[in-house]
Parts: sequence; C-alpha cells; structure tokens
Amino acid sequence: MHRLTNRHGLDLPAIGLGTWPMTGADCTRAVHQALELGYRHIDTATAYANEAAVGQALRDSSVPREAIHLTTKVWWDRLEPQAMRQSLEDSLRALGTEQVDLFHIHWPARDWDLARSIETLVQLRDEGKARCIGVANFPLGLLRQVVEQLGAPLAAIQVEYHALLEQSPLLAFARQHDLAFTAYTPLARGEVAEQPAVCAIAEKHGVLPTQVALAWLLEQPGVAVIPKASSRANQLANLAALELRLDEQDRAAMAALPKDRRVVSPEFAPDWQA
Ligand SMILES: NC(=O)c1ccc[n+]([C@@H]2O[C@H](COP(=O)([O-])OP(=O)(O)OC[C@H]3O[C@@H](n4cnc5c(N)ncnc54)[C@H](OP(=O)(O)O)[C@@H]3O)[C@@H](O)[C@H]2O)c1
Repeated sequence: MHRLTNRHGLDLPAIGLGTWPMTGADCTRAVHQALELGYRHIDTATAYANEAAVGQALRDSSVPREAIHLTTKVWWDRLEPQAMRQSLEDSLRALGTEQVDLFHIHWPARDWDLARSIETLVQLRDEGKARCIGVANFPLGLLRQVVEQLGAPLAAIQVEYHALLEQSPLLAFARQHDLAFTAYTPLARGEVAEQPAVCAIAEKHGVLPTQVALAWLLEQPGVAVIPKASSRANQLANLAALELRLDEQDRAAMAALPKDRRVVSPEFAPDWQA
C-alpha cells in the first residue's frame, strides 16, 4: 500500500479505517474485518469510547501489532501535562499496546497554556509512548505557532478535508514543513458522492462515486484518508480507490465543486480563519 513517510519517523498507510462512531462489538468486528481485508492503519481517539474495542480487534487479528499503524488522540479538556499523560496511559491500556504510532491533540482548547501542552506532547514522544505526534483541528495560525515558534517536531495534522472543502493554505503549510495531512470525513459523510459531477466521473471510469471522492484526495502528495466504513463491501471499495487514476478533465470538474462545506464544526471548534 502507498505510505506516507517523513523525517519524524512517520510511516503512515495512505488509507486508514476511521472508527468513530463505532463502539463495542460492532467496532471490534469492523476493525478485525478491515485488518483481514488489508487495512494497516486504524484511527481512534479517547473521545470515541472505542479504544478497548479496537484493542480487542488487534488481539483477535493474526496481523502482528508492528504491521499496524495506530493513531489515537487526547481530548481538549485533558491538555494539562498530568491529564495528557494520564490520557495516553489510559489509551495504551485500553488498546493493549505499549506505544501508539501517532498521538494527536484532538482539538485545541481555549485559554490554555499551548506551550506547556506541546512540551508534554513532545516529552511523551521522547519517552517512547508515541512514535510520532501531531495535532488535529488546528487552524493555520495556531499550527504555524506550534511548528515555527515552538519548533515542535510534529509529524502530522488531521483535519476535515474532502472535495467540498477548501484546505489549500493548510495543506501547503503541511507540505512545506513535512507534515502528513490526514483527511478526516473524506466522503463528507456521503455528500461528495451525491454531487452530479462526481457521479459523472464515476460513470466514465466504471467505479463508485465514493471511490472518486477518495482517489481525488489520495493523488494529492502528502494526503492520507481515513473513511469510516463498517460493511465489508464499503471497506473493500474504499481500499480499491487506491487503484483509480483521475485525468485532467476529472480534476478540473472536482476543482469546480463548491468548497465551503464544513461537516464537522462543534461549538468548541476554533475560529477556522485564525
Ligand atoms: N479528528 C477529528 O476531529 C475527527 C472528526 C471526525 C471524524 N474523524 C475520523 O474520521 C473518520 C471518518 O469520518 P466520518 O465518519 O465523519 O465520515 P466519512 O468517512 O466521510 O463518512 C462515513 C460514512 O460514509 C459511509 N461510507 C463509507 N464508505 C462508503 C462507501 N464505499 N460507499 C457508501 N458509503 C460509504 C459510511 O457508512 P458505513 O459505515 O455503513 O460503511 C458512513 O456512514 C471517523 O471515523 C474518525 O475516525 C476525526
């Protein structure tokens, strides 16, 4: 599988399985199935309340732990040093592993000591509890502060990204600083595949509109995708998007789609223009 690597030791399979909002036995079954089908990248978070279920799937699977890239995240109310440490300890215990491959701050907090939180994040990496570290849902100004002013060795950023949302400035910054760019909600929960232009491209290539949505992201240098899929058919279809090659006409049609649809914007979200 196509993988994203960088100088921070990241080795990220370009397609991962998103696990929110699956929990319990459903989550264990879906993750186990995905590993059987060839997925080697699983995305979870403490906030998804499914780390134990993911851990169970890892134990049930015949795929060795070291062959799987595992991402987890700490919630924004646990970013004080002790709380962040405890959060990662809890994650490691629930997942049944001694180290995660990527540990993200899930959302920025408000009125927080950014430098202290980032220092703790780096320490956890240095202590070997996380192979790599990153942030999620950071707007460009805040990411710039973390990377350029604080000099944090971030390996990745995870944000909402799909064909209906503009993310060029953030993506350009990530490329400039050698950060992998993980696109969450890459299908816009079905909305990309509903676009007539996307359906037309799919028909031309004899593929599914969801595969067009994912192929458009995957062909962009530095971009990984983590679609959530529970059924075998959807998991397989998403993996197969890696084989689809778009042409110039397809790219022009994708570029012409409206780019102002943000699906995930909870009340605690940052000012995205900051
Ligand atoms: N960092 C963050 O703040 C953040 C925020 C949101 C999400 N995420 C991560 O990103 C992952 C994905 O995002 P998401 O779940 O919001 O949205 P998404 O991946 O864009 O869409 C998921 C939906 O698409 C369906 N689907 C998947 N593959 C399909 C296919 N081939 N054909 C038709 N339908 C298909 C799924 O249905 P089935 O399940 O029935 O297959 C599910 O209903 C999450 O699971 C989570 O891990 C991170």
